[in-house]
Amino acid sequence: MQIGILGATGPAGSGLAARLASVGFDVVVGSRSKYKAMEVRDHLLERWDGMNLPIEAADNIGAANADLVVIATPWDAAGATAASVSRQLQGKVVISMANALAKVGNEFQPLVPPRGSVAASVQAAVPRSLVSAAFHHVPAKELGDLNEPVDSDVLICSDHKTATEATIDIVNRIPDMNPLDAGQLSNAAPIEAFAAVLLQLNVRYKTRVAVRFSGLKHG
Ligand SMILES: NC(=O)c1ccc[n+]([C@@H]2O[C@H](COP(=O)([O-])OP(=O)(O)OC[C@H]3O[C@@H](n4cnc5c(N)ncnc54)[C@H](OP(=O)(O)O)[C@@H]3O)[C@@H](O)[C@H]2O)c1
Repeated sequence: MQIGILGATGPAGSGLAARLASVGFDVVVGSRSKYKAMEVRDHLLERWDGMNLPIEAADNIGAANADLVVIATPWDAAGATAASVSRQLQGKVVISMANALAKVGNEFQPLVPPRGSVAASVQAAVPRSLVSAAFHHVPAKELGDLNEPVDSDVLICSDHKTATEATIDIVNRIPDMNPLDAGQLSNAAPIEAFAAVLLQLNVRYKTRVAVRFSGLKHG
C-alpha cells in the first residue's frame, strides 16, 4: 500500500514517513514544495542508509494520489490542505494527526477548532473521504528513530468503519504500537486536546511521554 503524507517536511510527518517505510509501506513525502519534500526524503534515506526505505517525494497533490493519505500539517492548515486536494482524496481513507494547541508562556493550552476538533474540520472539508484521527500522542522524535521501537497505544476514531479498520491495520504493522478503536470522530476532540497535557508533562519532567492504557491485553 502506498501512503502519502501531506506536510511531511515537519518532525511529525517525516518521523511517521520513516517509521511507515521501515515496516514496508511505500511512502510519499508531501510538501507545498516538491523540492522541500525531496530534501526531506534525501535526508531520511541518508540517515537510514542501508535500510532501503521505500520513500518518494512529491508536492502535496502528488502525495494525495497515494492509496491512503495522512495530514501532518499544523492544525490551522489541516482542513484547507485537505480541501486543496479534495479531488485526489475522494473515496480514500485520510488520517488526521494534528492537534490544536497554543503555547502561552511555558504552558500548552488546547484550542477548540471549528466543529470541535481538527479531524472533524478535515472531515467537513473533504466530505467524500473517510477521515480517521490517529497518532496524536506519539512523539515525533521517537517515531523517527528507527533504532528503537515506539512503545505506545494509538487511539483511533472515525465515523467510518473502513477508515478505523485501515488505520488499525497500519498501526498493527508497527512493532510495540497498539491500535485502540476509540469510537466515533466526536472523540477526536478530547484525544487532540489531551496532547496539551502530554506536552506539559514533557516540559515538567524533561522527557517525551507517550500513552499506555492499563486494563487491556497487548500483543
Ligand atoms: N511534533 C510531534 O511530536 C507531534 C506528534 C503527534 C502529532 N503532531 C501533530 O502533527 C502535526 C505536524 O506536527 P509538526 O511538529 O511536524 O508540525 P510543523 O513542523 O509545524 O508543520 C509540518 C509541515 O506542515 C506544513 N505547513 C506549515 N504551515 C502550513 C500551511 N499554512 N499550509 C499548509 N502546510 C503547512 C509545512 O510543510 P511544507 O512547508 O513543506 O508544506 C511543515 O513542514 C501538528 O498538527 C501536530 O500537532 C505532532
